[in-house]
Amino acid sequence: MADFYDVSLDVATPADAALLSNLLELYIYDLSEAFSVEIGADGRFGYSKLALYWSEPGRRFPFLIRCDGRIAGFALATRGSPATDDPNVFDVAEFFVLRRHRRSGVGRRAAALLWSRLPGRWTVRASEGNPGAIPFWAGVIGQFTGGAATELTRPGNPHAWRVFSFESPPQHSTA
Ligand SMILES: CC(C)(COP(=O)(O)OP(=O)(O)OC[C@H]1O[C@@H](n2cnc3c(N)ncnc32)[C@H](O)[C@@H]1OP(=O)(O)O)[C@@H](O)C(=O)NCCC(=O)NCCS
Repeated sequence: MADFYDVSLDVATPADAALLSNLLELYIYDLSEAFSVEIGADGRFGYSKLALYWSEPGRRFPFLIRCDGRIAGFALATRGSPATDDPNVFDVAEFFVLRRHRRSGVGRRAAALLWSRLPGRWTVRASEGNPGAIPFWAGVIGQFTGGAATELTRPGNPHAWRVFSFESPPQHSTA
């Protein structure tokens, strides 16, 4: 389990833009199994919003996940969520753990670090077409909140969305 590893969530700086851009390619490729995403003529999917993560501080929060100092994934969070009109609610926009590090608790630990880093009201959206994501989020959020999250289903195309909502209290212990 990742409790035996040192999982860290490090703020990504503009110097990490190329690294994040490369990881986003792997992430989008993974998600293309569930969503009809077309690859560009240059063989890349591209992620046009990446630069906004440094031009909109206070609204967008980019992080790298490291495991024992090695790159293990990333988390992109926003203030403001497509799931609610409340502009102050945080949202997990993108979240990715490299296959090499999966199913060892890295995602669980990184998610808890993310929510603890940004206390407040959170939403997490997961597509029902992404089979691993729903049990992952349901379990991790359930553990983080002690079962206090709410969960609803929103229509979506081609798949419905599962939306989890919960509060991350200030200085929540992630131990
Ligand atoms: C979803 C993802 C972030 C999970 O990361 P991870 O580091 O493997 O997750 P963890 O090891 O912390 O898993 C914690 C628990 O979540 C559940 N879980 C994780 N992945 C799962 C899967 N593919 N299927 C079913 N349950 C899963 C398990 O209960 C797991 O505990 P266990 O391994 O003791 O059974 C990772 O698979 C990923 O990056 N997937 C591609 C991108 C993606 O779908 N991101 C989410 C977008 S909403």
